[in-house]
Amino acid sequence: MGKCPSCQQWNTFEEELVMPDTVPAAWSQQKKEGANRSNKPRKIAEIESVNENRSDTGDAELNRVLGGGIMPGSVVLLGGEPGIGKSTLMLELALRLNTINVLYVSGEESAAQIKSRAERLKHQSESCYILTETQTQQIFAQIAELEPALLIVDSIQTLASNKLESAPGSVSQVRECTAELLQFAKESATPVFLIGHITKEGGLAGPKVLEHMVDTVLQFEGDRHMSYRILRTVKNRFGSTAELGIYEMMSVGLRQVSNPSEILISQRDGDLSGIALGATLEGNRPLIVEIQSLVSSAAYGTPQRSCTGFDARRLNMLLAVLEKRGGFRLSLSDVFLNVTGGLKIEDPAIDLAVCASVISSINDISISGKMAFAAEVGLGGEIRAVNKIENRIAEAEKLGFEAIYISKYAVKSLPEKKYKIKIKAIGKLEELIEQVFL
Ligand code: TYD
Ligand code: MG
Repeated sequence: MGKCPSCQQWNTFEEELVMPDTVPAAWSQQKKEGANRSNKPRKIAEIESVNENRSDTGDAELNRVLGGGIMPGSVVLLGGEPGIGKSTLMLELALRLNTINVLYVSGEESAAQIKSRAERLKHQSESCYILTETQTQQIFAQIAELEPALLIVDSIQTLASNKLESAPGSVSQVRECTAELLQFAKESATPVFLIGHITKEGGLAGPKVLEHMVDTVLQFEGDRHMSYRILRTVKNRFGSTAELGIYEMMSVGLRQVSNPSEILISQRDGDLSGIALGATLEGNRPLIVEIQSLVSSAAYGTPQRSCTGFDARRLNMLLAVLEKRGGFRLSLSDVFLNVTGGLKIEDPAIDLAVCASVISSINDISISGKMAFAAEVGLGGEIRAVNKIENRIAEAEKLGFEAIYISKYAVKSLPEKKYKIKIKAIGKLEELIEQVFL
């Protein structure tokens, strides 16, 4: 039609395909009619709480990121780069839970490949079933027969529903398969773990709506050249997102690292000046970053200022503040600043770590590797509060730090809770110099 009879505009019609209503959702098909779900409004006081029904995964790190165990009927998405260990983590979970029926659906590897991986791992199970299948309708048929207490899908991008014609991994297939699995999880109260691929940019592959649909999103990350892996909660309807779990990839699978400070300490031999650790946030995720600086007297007339991973103008501002409020003669010095690990930080909360590392380099006094910093520095040399300070403190505490310097104005927003880490509240740059360097 050229002209819209309603608004009288030309060429405003767009084609939109409507799915035929005759194909029932895959899981309902298995359950026949008469599912008889009551969907009436209920008083919130009358709804029974399910919080007590969490089941233990047998893995303290995984329990922690899930908010204390697996919730019945929850759908958890596990994302991460290829080769990081997603399949290993999930297979270990499947083998560890050897008292319940676990179905591990793989569209990525053959049953024999999974078996040979399972042989390397230290757990054994009589109740772990492997299914190599990618058609959701077929998978649900097998589920109806086996009635597993936990379902693992490796990976959501390999699944396809016969309701759609598009290829596996396409936006519509990923959305449809997730919707079917979600419906299954909610109706049968079976927890489902989905492994998800990650794009080159680091986001989860597939539609953004995928992250909205599931209850929990976990991210498995780490440097592939190092053996440490970090499991983070990106989203959790049943717990906090400040949690993280740490593992080490060994020849016999993943080892839980209960004292993660060992990672940071091992990276440093002896005391070096010019290094300070800042507690930053990347999106929602707390992260401890290392700031290195080197201050030396300028070889030529004009001093050089160079930074990697930090805004150069912000560095100049902080140097001016240090000169004015701290009395350091920086106008005749070259200053080089580096955020290690190739990170690019825009969070003002690392200001204090930047200042501490510069002062450390000027005075040639090293800062303890168990000390972290999280505050913004203002033009008057005042130490300002930053957002989500609890998350930063929690991360530093989790990573085994002994003390963290924050703004004294942030203290009142902290929850009344006993921290293992010592919280040092300061209000001015002078206090930092007094407490850390004198
Ligand atoms: P995998 O779980 O296949 O990664 P993903 O599913 O995220 O792509 O992990 C693959 C890597 O882990 C591979 O490089 C080999 C290594 N690995 C070990 O070092 N030890 C082990 O016990 C296992 C099973 C794997
Ligand atoms: Mg895999």
